[in-house]
Amino acid sequence: MPDQELIAPELPEQRNPSESDLSSGWYKIADSSQINPKEAIQVDSFPTQIVVWRGEDSKLRALNLYCKHMGASLACGEVDGNSIRCPFHSWRWAGEGHCDEIPYAKKIPAKALTRAWEIDEVNGIVYAWFDKDANPSDPDGQRFE
Ligand code: FES
Repeated sequence: MPDQELIAPELPEQRNPSESDLSSGWYKIADSSQINPKEAIQVDSFPTQIVVWRGEDSKLRALNLYCKHMGASLACGEVDGNSIRCPFHSWRWAGEGHCDEIPYAKKIPAKALTRAWEIDEVNGIVYAWFDKDANPSDPDGQRFE
């Protein structure tokens, strides 16, 4: 099956972050205590909806909320190792934004990519980096509570 048939052309209402008026910086999205190991949460208070999870290594990772296959919410999925597995057809997504496993498939489609968001955890607060033009994070960038 060609790649394009495996990727849904229309996804649920994933907000376009480039339409946001927010300045570049680190935005508080949660308290650390809200995300236990192997748990995922949905965050709506950000320029786009994201899923944030804590892997087995205790590190936090974040992706666009809706699965690039057929649009299921990854926040309803299951943390598997340090990746997150979609609740619908079990595609597994790594924190860098690529699909790293599809059950029963020999090949992962080249288009199975989603947007990853940089996370920083400081003093019990979880921040996500936002830049309208997707520029890389600045460790010393402004922090917004
Ligand atoms: S919607 Fe099919 S794997 Fe996510």
